[in-house]
Amino acid sequence: MKKIISLVFLSSLVYMGKTQNTARVVINGYNKNTTISRHIYGHFSEHLGRCIYDGFWVSDTSTVKRQDRIRLDVVEALKKIHIPNLRWPGGCFADEYHWRDGIGPRKERPTMINTNWGNVTEDNSFGTHEFLELCGLLNCEPYITANVGSGTVEEMNKWVEYLNFDGVSPLTALRKENGRDKPWNVRFWGVGNESWGCGGRMLPEYYANEYRRYAQFAKNYPNAKLNKIACGPNSDDYNWTDVLMRTVGTGMWGLSLHYYTVPKNWSDKGSATAFDEKEYIATMQKCLHMEELLSRHSTIMDKYDPAKKVALVVDEWGIWTNVEPGSNPAFLYQQNSLRDALIAATTLNIFNNHADRVRMANLAQTVNVLQSLILTKGNDMLLTPTYYVFDMFKVHQDAQLLPIQINTPDYEVGDQKIPAVNVSASQDSTGITHISFVNLDAKNNIIVKVNIEGVQYRNMNAQVLTSARFTDINTFENKYEVVPTVFKGAVKEGNDLVVTLPKLSVVVLELK
Ligand code: AHR
Repeated sequence: MKKIISLVFLSSLVYMGKTQNTARVVINGYNKNTTISRHIYGHFSEHLGRCIYDGFWVSDTSTVKRQDRIRLDVVEALKKIHIPNLRWPGGCFADEYHWRDGIGPRKERPTMINTNWGNVTEDNSFGTHEFLELCGLLNCEPYITANVGSGTVEEMNKWVEYLNFDGVSPLTALRKENGRDKPWNVRFWGVGNESWGCGGRMLPEYYANEYRRYAQFAKNYPNAKLNKIACGPNSDDYNWTDVLMRTVGTGMWGLSLHYYTVPKNWSDKGSATAFDEKEYIATMQKCLHMEELLSRHSTIMDKYDPAKKVALVVDEWGIWTNVEPGSNPAFLYQQNSLRDALIAATTLNIFNNHADRVRMANLAQTVNVLQSLILTKGNDMLLTPTYYVFDMFKVHQDAQLLPIQINTPDYEVGDQKIPAVNVSASQDSTGITHISFVNLDAKNNIIVKVNIEGVQYRNMNAQVLTSARFTDINTFENKYEVVPTVFKGAVKEGNDLVVTLPKLSVVVLELK
């Protein structure tokens, strides 16, 4: 009861921003040509810090509810948001990982040093079978990144055979010996990770040839046609995209893109919880840079692939701040504020609106690392503000994109300004329309006049995620500071809508 009272009190507080600006949005329900792939809502789990070990995978003496050593509270939370895919084992870790070390009796598995992330000893107790068991529990598709940097073509070729072949071979016999009779038919395969950086410091021409060689020997077995994903550019390296598209073209299912929102700079990234309005708007400006990245990389891809067969796969994105004080700097453990939720919602709106080319994405990194959905502490866990965005936005998965036009006021701080409002809309297979709005303005509520064409509806439901301050977080002492509540700020006028977006808010409307 106490919790409910404080939530009601909080939601009345957050409507106290000034309302002075108006945005206009037109939603076109006649033009439904693009599906928003559910795989845009994917996640990423690397052998890094406490993501796998202590996040998904606990000790065999842990008293937390678990299946084998997989935490079931984490599984349940991710199932609720309909996690569509999970990327593994890295990240930089992937290009040092040798999959054969992670199969067979756990006690006999060799250890290795995780040189990228703190030189900790990796005991390989979480390997191929454990990852696929996890994906089975999550009911999501696995996305495996193969080792190109320090691995071999043979290693990837055999990994695919071990996972996907149903016939008689030494590797399928080994798989059976290790407890799995039927193949898993894993279709998403990354061919290396950040091959321009930690994955081998390759030049694009060299990597493009390597991709062609690795891809040639990664075989399609019956019922398991591979979606091969080439290492793509580091943020705005447009030359990398050009070379890959020219050299590989439609010989790949997808081309990856990595872009992180870093509030300050790479040597001092900025705090996850202590920042002022100037840093807030600067961070949002960097988040919005995703729009330009997608437009410009898509334009290059269009030149070589006008039919848009190759997907742009943003398989690492999110905010990257300094680690929490006192935590291991190599473990990338950061708190998660309302600012991060606004970043997640804005980025997902951008992805939705680019769904003709962006068909997969993975937020970095699910549990206890970077922009996490879930933080754990011993047997306890909490859901971050970012988690709730994925919960609210899951309605867009596999829905038809409704094109929008938007005219928004700017949000200004000193000499910095950004568009205050961003939006995306979709219609699901049952005819229900969803509109997701974000108001980035830290001072003003904004009235949005929404002109809806080609969509009829009678009823409306809505949720809002907001809080008094952009620095607000959920903690183990107060897990429900930033949670969604019922939204009453939308009014139907004829077939149109007038929506009053609270400052610093994410609103998702359901029209049916
Ligand atoms: O997500 C953390 C790291 O960021 C990944 O391992 C790497 O691919 C990227 O540089």
